[in-house]
Amino acid sequence: MQAGLIDVCLEEQVPLLVFFWGDPTPYVEEAHRHGVTVVVQVGSVEEARAAMAAGVDIIMAQGCEAGGHVKGTIALTTLVPEVVEAVHPVPVIAAGGIATGRGVVAALSLGAQAVSMGTRFLASTEARMPHAYKERVVQSTAKDTVYTGLFDVGWAEAPHRVLRNKAVSEWEAAGCPARGQRPGEGQVIGTVSRAGTPVELVRYSSFMPIEGFTGDLDYAALYAGESCSLVNDIKPAAQIVADVMREAEEVMTRLQQRSERRRATHVRKIRGAVPSRPTEPNMGLHLTASSVRSCVAPASGSSSVESVEKTGVNLMAVCSLR
Ligand SMILES: Cc1cc2nc3c(=O)[nH]c(=O)nc-3n(C[C@H](O)[C@H](O)[C@H](O)COP(=O)(O)O)c2cc1C
Repeated sequence: MQAGLIDVCLEEQVPLLVFFWGDPTPYVEEAHRHGVTVVVQVGSVEEARAAMAAGVDIIMAQGCEAGGHVKGTIALTTLVPEVVEAVHPVPVIAAGGIATGRGVVAALSLGAQAVSMGTRFLASTEARMPHAYKERVVQSTAKDTVYTGLFDVGWAEAPHRVLRNKAVSEWEAAGCPARGQRPGEGQVIGTVSRAGTPVELVRYSSFMPIEGFTGDLDYAALYAGESCSLVNDIKPAAQIVADVMREAEEVMTRLQQRSERRRATHVRKIRGAVPSRPTEPNMGLHLTASSVRSCVAPASGSSSVESVEKTGVNLMAVCSLR
């Protein structure tokens, strides 16, 4: 990390300080003194527990679908619920593979309280990236991404997910040789401007080809996640947020309606099937374990299907109360 970077963030009282790849402990107290919320991105439940012990405010669980540097090897659907449970009541943000409203709803259902999207915003009007890079994100699908450690010049031993380009395929064709023996090692592939100063990028550099890059994108680190499958256009960031939220709300409404319809159908079926005076437990009820579960569990939150199946009368009582 660049010296003084955190001091500047604290002086400026940025609302959120997001740490990744390292121990946040030395900075947490100081950040809190400045009223800054501390987020740590993690790739495993062990890291999440360590971040919680360090006193961070929010934990971001990054699935291995994510673009850019990727700390863990676990998919989001497994990692998020595990982390949510391990760090309760610390809030969890889901990151990796999310680019749509459906993804947001999925993340919420896993227990996350928010999402972080990188690849989707890469293809935004405001992203300071070459247009051709954004176009590649739009044209690519998940299978065009690769999880690798190849772009390690400037940051070694830090796996990342990138779009497959010539740098990747020529290295693979050469038999995936070790650092120092890779094709074109040390070759200058382009130039970027950092703080107004032109900086040459060499092949396998971990530095991104940001806006103003002159050179060959086919040899640069084109960070992007599997969610590029879901990114079909370049549009303003505000539009991305609005579209994602609209879709999330639509999906949640549809799920709610479906669940209400299903509940109503179950109640009708149960009422029609029950004898006027049941003499034997469960008599005349044609219910499967799953229909009982979906009818009863959401509202009562307590029923054991086995015991409900054995006591038809109680089941009717629960259902008619709803
Ligand atoms: C182009 C790009 C650059 C990124 N740069 C950083 C970074 O500098 N620091 C960081 O913590 N994460 C970075 N990430 C990773 C994100 O924090 C996040 O984990 C990821 O974008 C979420 O997955 P998604 O790309 O599928 O949305 C970057 C991701 C991308 C795509």
